[in-house]
Amino acid sequence: MIFYFSGTGNSLYTAKAIAQHTKEDLISIAALMNDGKASFEYTLKDDEIIGFVYPIYAWAPPKMVMKFIEKLSLKNYKNNYIFTAATCGGNIGNTIKVMADGLKKKNLKLQSGFSVVMPSNYMVMGNVEPKEIAEKKLIGADERIKSICRIIDDRREDVYEVEKGSMPWVLTSVINPLFNMGKGTKKFYTTDKCTGCGLCESVCTCRTIKVNGKPVWAKDCNQCLACINLCPVHAIQYGKGTEKKGRYKNPNVSINELKVIKQS
Ligand SMILES: Cc1cc2nc3c(=O)[nH]c(=O)nc-3n(C[C@H](O)[C@H](O)[C@H](O)COP(=O)(O)O)c2cc1C
Repeated sequence: MIFYFSGTGNSLYTAKAIAQHTKEDLISIAALMNDGKASFEYTLKDDEIIGFVYPIYAWAPPKMVMKFIEKLSLKNYKNNYIFTAATCGGNIGNTIKVMADGLKKKNLKLQSGFSVVMPSNYMVMGNVEPKEIAEKKLIGADERIKSICRIIDDRREDVYEVEKGSMPWVLTSVINPLFNMGKGTKKFYTTDKCTGCGLCESVCTCRTIKVNGKPVWAKDCNQCLACINLCPVHAIQYGKGTEKKGRYKNPNVSINELKVIKQS
């Protein structure tokens, strides 16, 4: 089974491609975590593969992914093959170690880890990339995904194909905690372009947004930026700098697939 978390589709695209190749089930971490259960139990088939696929937020996995692993219980685990793939705009610091440590606490062993460089969805600082660069990155990502699938097929152990960036320890152990301290929602707002369509509420990975005419954010969120990137009329902004900046959605994933709240 492939567990995934995704705000704007890169990680969903990656997880889907690997799940299709390995014929494993695809399971949304955000959908499970928003159900509010205290634990998640799965009984593994013999030789079942387990994957964790997610975006990098300030050189570490999203906190929701790590909390999910804390709550996860895998029955019939007999050293099943476990891999992780972190999608990113550039590099992932020591994310693989964070993941390996989190799994070790649950007596699970990470066998391989990958970064997958894809278009950045982060426009709060910097900007999303121009279309040509984004397209090149998507082509490169397809090559990396093929390589991941081959490694999984061969059940290769201790394989790490990772762009760490320079001074990965500083990125993950110093900058990431600072990022997590500043994860409030105070800077999100809507302009008068907002139509109250409610899409932001349904793609929000932590159900922090409630649309009552206009969206209202509760105190904290995952900072996945699904709301700001996927708003159909670019009405959502963050602080002063995002009005003139671009937005990103993986072109191969539909908005419907990204909805955490599915229409009944
Ligand atoms: C809050 C936030 C922080 C990010 N930090 C990093 C980072 O440290 N390194 C990096 O290469 N990309 C970073 N990114 C870019 C995303 O990891 C990247 O675009 C990812 O593929 C998005 O995945 P998704 O489409 O599945 O949400 C960040 C994005 C966000 C929203």
